[in-house]
Amino acid sequence: MTHDTLFSFIAKQKEEIDKRLPFIVESIQAPSLLKEAMLYSLKAGGKRLRPMLLLATLEGYKKPISVGYEVASVIEMIHTYSLIHDDLPSMDNDDLRRGKPTNHKVFGDAVATLAGDGLLTYSFQYLSSLDSIPNEIKIELIHFISKAAGPSGMVGGQVEDILGEKKALSVEELEEIHHRKTGDLLAVSVESGAILAGINNESERSSLHLFAKHLGLAFQIKDDILDIEGDEQLLGKPVGSDLENDKSTYPKLLGIEGAKEKLSFHIEKAKKYLYETTMDHTLLLELTNYIHTRTK
Ligand code: IPE
Ligand code: IPE
Ligand code: MG
Ligand code: MG
Ligand code: MG
Repeated sequence: MTHDTLFSFIAKQKEEIDKRLPFIVESIQAPSLLKEAMLYSLKAGGKRLRPMLLLATLEGYKKPISVGYEVASVIEMIHTYSLIHDDLPSMDNDDLRRGKPTNHKVFGDAVATLAGDGLLTYSFQYLSSLDSIPNEIKIELIHFISKAAGPSGMVGGQVEDILGEKKALSVEELEEIHHRKTGDLLAVSVESGAILAGINNESERSSLHLFAKHLGLAFQIKDDILDIEGDEQLLGKPVGSDLENDKSTYPKLLGIEGAKEKLSFHIEKAKKYLYETTMDHTLLLELTNYIHTRTK
């Protein structure tokens, strides 16, 4: 698969997800201000990388991509909630997200917090009510996605991220934080694709899990690098936020070159495990290269 094929895949599937997300939220019976705030962040854009990972996994196992649209949207709603909360003044205190003023800048802290709560809880209400997925698969998805997003995953990682401010952590400690706060949701996106594709083979799932774990870590290392070297206009979010909050990041710990070496190391590890799977890995390989070299 060429680069062009990846970009046409992303463009087409992104359009599908971009269309679906507002549709899901517009049908909720809820106060219009709350819906407006939820829709504001969903419609602001974003790369939709987690949905792409899920859909590319399905494609790799030669399953119809359309089987994954709903679950991909659910994961993107959870991710979007995490960004709204991450930007709050009591957390990273950022004013720009997805090229627009952050949710709390427009709606205030209270409504922004509740818009995040709404996206998180509704994502599971929506997933549990899908008729298109057999119950036992739904329960498996709910289990893995809630675990990745919850206290032992993203929420726990966000707490450790805050506790890690103004501290000198070891690389091992920082790696653990990055796995939790970011890696787990990216990894579960790949794993949800495998669950929907009916892949139960233990060694297959284990290779895929290790692929996704290294990829998720690489993604956050790159995010830390872009927070220093990136272009605010392209990223649609502030650069220098980590320095301002004195966050523990890979560049802070290892220097920018050291962080880049770690990034390459985990990208290579991810590829090694991807090659171990039996899937047609061309699309996931391209997405891995994209994560390595992205500028936004
Ligand atoms: C940003 O995620 C938050 C992190 C976990 C680093 P993305 O870079 O995927 O943000 P969007 O969805 O494209 O806005
Ligand atoms: C965010 O990490 C992780 C989340 C769970 C949202 P960052 O705080 O580095 O993400 P950005 O840089 O604000 O997107
Ligand atoms: Mg943060
Ligand atoms: Mg942040
Ligand atoms: Mg960041």
